[in-house]
Amino acid sequence: MKRVYFTSFGCQMNVLDSELVLGDFKRTGYQQTDDMRLADIVLINTCSIRELAEEKVWSLLGRARLIKQERPALKIGVMGCMAQRVKEELIRRAPHVDLVLGTSNFRSAVQDLEDIESGGGRVVRVAKRPDPEFLPDADRNVAARPDAFRAFVTIVRGCNHSCSYCIVPHTRGGEVSRPQAEVWAEVERLVADGVREVTFLGQNINTYGQDLHPQRLHTGAICDLLEAASGIEGLDRIRFLTSNPFDMTEDMMRRFGSIPKVMPWLHIPAQAGNDALLARMQRTYTVDEYRTVVGWARKHIPGVEITSDFIVGFSGETEEEFEGTKALVREIGFMQTYVFKYSLRPMTISARRMPDDVPEDVKKSRNVELLAVQDEAALTRNRGLVGRRLEILIEGISKSDDRRVTGRDMNNRLVHCEGDAAMAGRMAIVEITDVAAHSLIGKRVALESEVGSWSYRGYGGGAASACGAETVSA
Ligand code: SAH
Ligand code: F3S
Repeated sequence: MKRVYFTSFGCQMNVLDSELVLGDFKRTGYQQTDDMRLADIVLINTCSIRELAEEKVWSLLGRARLIKQERPALKIGVMGCMAQRVKEELIRRAPHVDLVLGTSNFRSAVQDLEDIESGGGRVVRVAKRPDPEFLPDADRNVAARPDAFRAFVTIVRGCNHSCSYCIVPHTRGGEVSRPQAEVWAEVERLVADGVREVTFLGQNINTYGQDLHPQRLHTGAICDLLEAASGIEGLDRIRFLTSNPFDMTEDMMRRFGSIPKVMPWLHIPAQAGNDALLARMQRTYTVDEYRTVVGWARKHIPGVEITSDFIVGFSGETEEEFEGTKALVREIGFMQTYVFKYSLRPMTISARRMPDDVPEDVKKSRNVELLAVQDEAALTRNRGLVGRRLEILIEGISKSDDRRVTGRDMNNRLVHCEGDAAMAGRMAIVEITDVAAHSLIGKRVALESEVGSWSYRGYGGGAASACGAETVSA
């Protein structure tokens, strides 16, 4: 029995890419191990979005090298954004790495490993175009997914934007959409295997499909895809990431709101709350335009909740500009925000043109401050949920308390309630009794299959779902 040690850094797309590769290893009979010393291959899926993520990989590679010194048969592989970005450096600084697979060519990992083991020598695949024999999303091993009832599905890879701080267009290239029929077939296979909720992934899902049908500019091929997917029987919930403020239209929001299985949650990264700062970031919208997009969402998607990303300490960020960001966080009332300290990435526009001039301690304190503003706002909002009934899809036993189960409500909030493993994969109605900034606790009012029929009530996390839920009785 051969063993693979696999670690993944970074975004949801990396989580899925790791699953795809691990699925190939599992098909071939490999077992996963979390002990590097027991592994036949150490494979790291890397992220380049911030320097810290890359530093962690270098240190892991250092550990792997020590093991390889003792056991030269160990093979070491690096895949993903860092493999794409610093391939030459990897080969130079880490001669013990046997396999370097970029962001478009990583599904050949098992095959490459076999070639290396039979004496073929190091393999480096960093072409931007995928090898037609090993397309990134082909032939997914659906049984390899980490969650039984939820799955990610990539719909578009790469990004056509040029936010000045961002390395992604450099590491992942331009947008390449998967044809709708291919996505549909993958979702059907997942649903046949027990999945009830899918999250479609793309760096910018708003322009999904434009590269397939250039004439359909801005008419929302993403909406066509969502409508088609919602026809799949057995699929109950659909989510998608990331909805950027640009390339979004009011009509797209209207269509999101009209598809019952589309959950009322949008991730709309704002990055900053000041126009001059947004302009330096090349985000191509103003704070006011951001408000407009959020306004469309709230108008057309009943009960919608918004989450967001912010960068603090970007080049030249003044105290006043940062105040604007804090004000926006207070004003919008995000369900959750992710806050990142600006990290200069070589080759990006900001690295070439703008100094990384906000001191580290200021970045750190702004990070803490912005998170505090968010947490306070989230806690206040969550307190308003006490006594409300929410529908959750139960994932399984809670990691922190084995007398509880956890699930996600329609807005994607984490909810804990009493229960046991047999409830996994079922919907439940939970009455909220206690809240924190990042999760809710509730008591179970009804469980799917205990009530006669669980009619799907369509969307409306916040208000609408609570109303809908109250019509269900145990
Ligand atoms: N469009 C992508 C963005 C991926 S990067 C998506 O699917 O969300 C995720 C987040 O990392 C960005 O929204 C941004 O807030 C943050 N980020 C990107 N580059 C960064 C950098 N150089 N320094 C700090 N944070 C960064
Ligand atoms: Fe990065 Fe901006 Fe694209 S944040 S992934 S360049 S939309």
